[in-house]
Amino acid sequence: MNWQDKGQATAAIRAGEPRSDQGEHAEALYLTSSFVFDSAAQAAARFSGDEAGNVYSRYTNPTVATFEQRLALMEGTARTVGTSSGMAAILSTCMALLEAGDHIIASRSIFGSTTVLFNKYMQKFGVDITYVDLTDLGAWKSAVTARTRLLFAETPSNPLNEVADISQLAQIAHDAGAWLAIDNCFCTPALQRPVDFGADLVIHSATKFIDGQGRAMGGAVCGSDELVEEVVGFLRSAGPTMSPFNAWVFLKGLETLKLRMQAHCDSAEELAHWLKEQPAVTQVHYCGLPEHPGYALAGKQQSGFGGVLSFVVKGGQRAAWHVIDETEFLSITANLGDAKTTVTHPATTTHGRLSDEDKARSGIEDGLIRVAVGLEDIADIKADLRRGLSTL
Ligand SMILES: Cc1ncc(COP(=O)(O)O)c(C=O)c1O
Repeated sequence: MNWQDKGQATAAIRAGEPRSDQGEHAEALYLTSSFVFDSAAQAAARFSGDEAGNVYSRYTNPTVATFEQRLALMEGTARTVGTSSGMAAILSTCMALLEAGDHIIASRSIFGSTTVLFNKYMQKFGVDITYVDLTDLGAWKSAVTARTRLLFAETPSNPLNEVADISQLAQIAHDAGAWLAIDNCFCTPALQRPVDFGADLVIHSATKFIDGQGRAMGGAVCGSDELVEEVVGFLRSAGPTMSPFNAWVFLKGLETLKLRMQAHCDSAEELAHWLKEQPAVTQVHYCGLPEHPGYALAGKQQSGFGGVLSFVVKGGQRAAWHVIDETEFLSITANLGDAKTTVTHPATTTHGRLSDEDKARSGIEDGLIRVAVGLEDIADIKADLRRGLSTL
């Protein structure tokens, strides 16, 4: 079957060869660490690569392979490899593609652990990093050096929903002889396919919307055969590969991804408009609002505005904590991309380690609250937030 000719939802549900000779309807879960051979000669042929087939689950596993095949089809990339977490995907990409003396340009608004990985570990191995504002294309251009090998960005950004121009970043990267990697965790391929705009690599934390129900950790790197083969080589030697059980969970997640993302987007959009009308709210950051600076670009790059937004309340940290603490069922947690709505105070959690100057520069105000809108009834989500907002 040529799944490339089919729609994205069909590929997400059907692609691959997941059936064993038992004919099960749900994808088979190959929960095994190793595979046996018919003979010593076959073992030798598998190990040497003369015969295709599985050897050991750190190298290949059929359940993981089905997940990889489906995500590659959804992202429109030649190949995808699964990893044990989103951070393992970013680490493996850097370890496989960079060497001492190389230079990364990254957006200032990337996930906190990615910043730690770059600053503490990549720099330890002689890779330099320059941070720039996500939407300042001039700053990306000026940061390029003869050693720049990788441009790294998340779009839309967390938690302010700033939108990067992927085509322009790809142009800057390619003019510099570098790759552009986009962390597509907020949108997933259901809303945005970065390679359609020239990105070379797409990185996922499957832990978020791909799972969608907060059950399993995982990640993925999607790109050309050549680039992903390098990442696969690192993963096989170093080991942060995706577990077959988690791949099975993510396969179930992919089946409903398109539908869920649409529901996340619809509710987030409604919540953003409602928040704007609340007297205690001074600003709403959602790229689906026409007044948001990234609105037009998001409309071009994304087929939906996403399920994560943030807003600022009058009264700083005290007021923000009040709104969060007055909720009855929203989950107070830093995670996102779950059927359960989550609420976070970035200034004292996800962005708590930033200096006051960096917080001010990144728009992480004390009154800022992030909501990753889940799939509960939107009227109930509003009511849970209204309790605190109306008593400020
Ligand atoms: C945008 C983004 N990228 C990467 C990660 C890391 O993913 P994981 O927690 O699966 O390692 C996260 C996790 O929170 C994230 O929000």
